[in-house]
Amino acid sequence: MTFKLHNLHWNVTGLAFKSIHEFTEMMYDTTFLHFDAVAEHQKIFGVMPDCKLSDYLEKATIKEVDPREFSSLEVLQILQEDVKTLIDNAKDIKSKADGLGWTEAVSLMEEQIAYHSKQLWFINSSVK
Ligand SMILES: [Fe+2]
Repeated sequence: MTFKLHNLHWNVTGLAFKSIHEFTEMMYDTTFLHFDAVAEHQKIFGVMPDCKLSDYLEKATIKEVDPREFSSLEVLQILQEDVKTLIDNAKDIKSKADGLGWTEAVSLMEEQIAYHSKQLWFINSSVK
């Protein structure tokens, strides 16, 4: 997601360029913090986090897009789907972690769900 957000950040065009450019930057900064927090959580519990791009590509649920210019509306529509996927993934992980009694993982996922739900509200309101 971090790389895809950079693609959209660099290649957005149109009247909303500045706001979408800044919005995607804020999102890639935050998604990187989420990514790091999950890896550190894994280390705390003795799990080796994935560190290879090939592993990320194999496991990714967010689909890549080829680099090109994107209208502001296209960026928002792409993000709308991707953020829904992130929320669904986090809810699924939260539910599994809850079943296993992994309270720290539940709390990490709740934080991500809350963040992405707020971003989805911004995105949905902008697309209307
Ligand atoms: Fe940038």
